[in-house]
Amino acid sequence: MADFRKSTIYQIYTKSFMDASGDGFGDIKGVTARLDYLAWLGVDYVWLTPFFCSPQRDNGYDVSDYRKVDPIFGTMEDVEELIAEGKKRGIGLMFDMVFNHTSTDHVWFQKALEGDPYYMDYYIFRDGRGSLPPTNWESKFGGNAWKYVPKLDKWYLHLYDEGQADLNWDNPKVREELKDIVRFWKQKGAEGFRFDVVNLVSKPEVFQDDTHGDGRRFYTDGPHIHEYLRELAEDTGICDMITVGEMSSTSLEACIGYTKPERRELSMCFHFHHLKVDYKDGDKWELMEPDRRKLKELFAAWQEGMEKGGGWEAVFWCNHDQPRAVSRFGDDGKYWKESAKMLAGAIHFMRGTPYVYQGEEIGMTNAGYDAIGQFRDVESLNYYEILLGRGKSQEEALKVIQERSRDNGRTPMQWDASGNAGFTEGEPWIRIPDNHQTINVEEERKDEDSILYFYRRLIALRKQYPVIAQGDIHFFLREDEHVLAYCREDDQALLTVVCNLTGKDCTVEDCEALHVEGAALLAGNYPGQEETIAIQKLRPYEFAAYWRQK
Ligand code: GLC
Repeated sequence: MADFRKSTIYQIYTKSFMDASGDGFGDIKGVTARLDYLAWLGVDYVWLTPFFCSPQRDNGYDVSDYRKVDPIFGTMEDVEELIAEGKKRGIGLMFDMVFNHTSTDHVWFQKALEGDPYYMDYYIFRDGRGSLPPTNWESKFGGNAWKYVPKLDKWYLHLYDEGQADLNWDNPKVREELKDIVRFWKQKGAEGFRFDVVNLVSKPEVFQDDTHGDGRRFYTDGPHIHEYLRELAEDTGICDMITVGEMSSTSLEACIGYTKPERRELSMCFHFHHLKVDYKDGDKWELMEPDRRKLKELFAAWQEGMEKGGGWEAVFWCNHDQPRAVSRFGDDGKYWKESAKMLAGAIHFMRGTPYVYQGEEIGMTNAGYDAIGQFRDVESLNYYEILLGRGKSQEEALKVIQERSRDNGRTPMQWDASGNAGFTEGEPWIRIPDNHQTINVEEERKDEDSILYFYRRLIALRKQYPVIAQGDIHFFLREDEHVLAYCREDDQALLTVVCNLTGKDCTVEDCEALHVEGAALLAGNYPGQEETIAIQKLRPYEFAAYWRQK
């Protein structure tokens, strides 16, 4: 199995990657059909978003049967074929375990609804306070986090959609059920796992109102979380596999704990602090330009902090819950190519395992939808109504959704310039952006200067240069508002990375780290960088990485 420090992981949003059956939804056979492309790109693992049986209220993150493949994605034979074909190409499959909650269609919840006490204890049912819910906690998708069941005269907790009921991990039987599911997929040949919002699974003993928040401080990185994660890993034998936990609103300290190898909890984790630098007052639904200084501070604090604590991060800009990085932190117009490459380079040389989200490697942009009816995501549709309720006009609310909707990252993969971008021969489940005519895999494979080739090079470099996977990290030019700069260093070599985060020319204060005489340019996004002997002026979104032997 490939060392996860040297690996690059490619995330596939199954529903939007490739439709082999022609029904308009991406499917497993579609993924298999595109494995040669992924092998060419050089990725080591593919993380596939959930393809299990689900009513699809939250696009598969509401699982109704963890051991069955949802017919819209194919069959168990298709999954077995995908695993086998992946292996042939040196690509391991990572599956997505959604264990904080199940769909309310799951048989466990259905039995609970019938009043079966055994299964009621699989979930979190509580009495209300008169006609009020047990606490004032808010769902991450808007509204109160409890739903009343008249027949039982009780409320159940759903931190996400009301169709996603939170599991009671304090019940050992629940933990055993979940371990069995992991074993099942491991036996099928999965080489790794992603655990969805896994730092929310340990709930407090007492449920109380949050007087100054939405409740998250009571259940985030909860009381038994480390114990439960270690138990899950050890009892299923996944300690030596590649595992990643998605951590919601977490802390550096907690993440060091989750990923320190000797603790045997997880290989690495996702956290999202750097993706909130454009949330005004911390509110995703209030627009703001990204605060680049904050972004730099967060990168430095987490990267250096994880190194110091001996933890390991997933490094990423994009996933199926985020708008496209090039539209958000770069420029999807004039400097589209330069900024997409800069953003890629900025994180691929960091300390951690890089994730490439489908389409990012060709510079896919935000969806560009112009009517609310074009959006599909439950969170976007809920928040559109909430924003109207807060007094925004339809136009204002739409503008927020256009920028913040998770659908920006969920538009179909743009394979070629044809009508449906080579994604489907049917009617796509979600609208395909018009720019697929110019931004697509086919075009970029013809051009060695493309964003796609740049990603391919970054992925290869991580394997060739040990300092990228193993070196220490140190940030410099910390006060500079525009330039992100860091060094990686091990016994053998020194790697210097500079990125102009802005669309303007800028002059950099001279410092020793910037004198790269005699160093080789490993990657850059402007011509003429090979000749640079001291980096002092940077062009818009300029990026360069120089390597030298010590
Ligand atoms: C994670 C998933 C997201 C989903 C949520 C609830 O954040 O990435 O897509 O909606 O968990 O399962």
